[in-house]
Amino acid sequence: MKIVTFSHYKEINDEVLKDSYAIVIDLLRATSTMICAISNGAKRIIPVEKIEEARLFKKLDESVLLGGERGGLKIEGFDLDNSPLSYKQEVVFGKTIVFTTTNGTRALKMAAGAKRTFLGSFINAQKTAEYIIKEALHYNIDTISIVCAGTEEKFTLEDILCAGYFVDLFKENLPDVFLDDLSLASHVLYKKFENDPHEILKYSYHYSHLKRLGFEADLEFCLKKDFVDCVCEYENLIVEKV
Ligand code: MLT
Repeated sequence: MKIVTFSHYKEINDEVLKDSYAIVIDLLRATSTMICAISNGAKRIIPVEKIEEARLFKKLDESVLLGGERGGLKIEGFDLDNSPLSYKQEVVFGKTIVFTTTNGTRALKMAAGAKRTFLGSFINAQKTAEYIIKEALHYNIDTISIVCAGTEEKFTLEDILCAGYFVDLFKENLPDVFLDDLSLASHVLYKKFENDPHEILKYSYHYSHLKRLGFEADLEFCLKKDFVDCVCEYENLIVEKV
């Protein structure tokens, strides 16, 4: 099995992902938040690129919740921001959420050309990796693409650390694994900081930005591993539980 990692969503297109299973990671915070919402009972999430698109959904159906951010903060008139902690069971259970963020929802849409597209985060990595391994072996898939969303079209450290955790899980659980250079680098980095990712992330751009905005609790939440059981897939423009 080949593991290929992309440093941000501008590096991908349908051609490079075709025939592979993709995992999209926007650790801080879009994929962590969507996974949290689905695990707390949201029926589905519809990721959209533009704020106006989201508002249109609400016009057509009052019962949908609008969620997401611009500049890390809640969008005017939206029901929810991009904090996973806002997506509590009592708020999201049974709901359809229309969701737009600066990088994460774009990355997901760009990765739609993969054979299957999954959402990744530390919070559910182990379950997601187990599921992907089982399916990939069964259907003879030979490439897993790890798509880091990045921040403002640049490499971002937290996504690469999380990519390294996925690489670790694949290396441990697959018989033969070939890693491209970024997968290899992400794994080395992850192993160095696996016990305390905050130690390195506190010097990084997006982590510091969210800390300045007062989202320390989100940082704690998104950097904890494997306390969420659900596997989320993006298919036909919708995120749902597998
Ligand atoms: C994004 O999609 O750009 C991020 O999730 C931004 C954020 O952390 O709010």
